[in-house]
Amino acid sequence: MKKVTLHDKIFALSIPDTEIQQAVEKVAAQINKDMAGETPVFVGLLNGAFMFAADLLKLIEAPCEVSFIKYFSYAGTQSLGEVSELIGLNTNLKNRTVIILEDIIDTGLTISRLLNDLQSKGLKQVKIATLLFKPDAFKENYAVDYIGISIPNDFIVGYGLDYDELGRNLKDIYTLVQ
Ligand code: IMP
Ligand code: MG
Repeated sequence: MKKVTLHDKIFALSIPDTEIQQAVEKVAAQINKDMAGETPVFVGLLNGAFMFAADLLKLIEAPCEVSFIKYFSYAGTQSLGEVSELIGLNTNLKNRTVIILEDIIDTGLTISRLLNDLQSKGLKQVKIATLLFKPDAFKENYAVDYIGISIPNDFIVGYGLDYDELGRNLKDIYTLVQ
């Protein structure tokens, strides 16, 4: 079994590139079917979704816009907790169909916060596409419209996903060896 070491931890190959590409193709086919006649705005979440977004968008047939956003976390000198601010959302989304692109949905909190931040923008509709989904960790009520692969509650890296910023460049996905 192929292994990689990132910082102090060892990860073993779990989802090979070929399987990832099949999942991307499946998601693209579903989006193409649903988006016929629409001009959606794809909104990718940085950093993790960059690779999924790049591969998926090459397969999208509808005319579309592409944008990226990031939740910027910082510890304010006066604040006790961590504050998160959404940066990069400059596009006018009024009456638009938005498709959120995420690398992985775990508890679902990140997308929940984004859905909340999008609420005042007057969208026509919002859809959620994620390459990976951890059903046993998901705690929210919203529907995840497009799912590439459902995975167990393990910690993974590769294909955009990191362990302390390392591993995003790997073309396959690796699981933390217990
Ligand atoms: P959520 O807000 O709990 O759904 O978590 C989503 C975010 O947590 C993702 O965008 C990832 O950045 C990160 N994340 C969740 N699970 C993993 C994992 O297994 N490996 C690396 N990052 C993860
Ligand atoms: Mg992420």
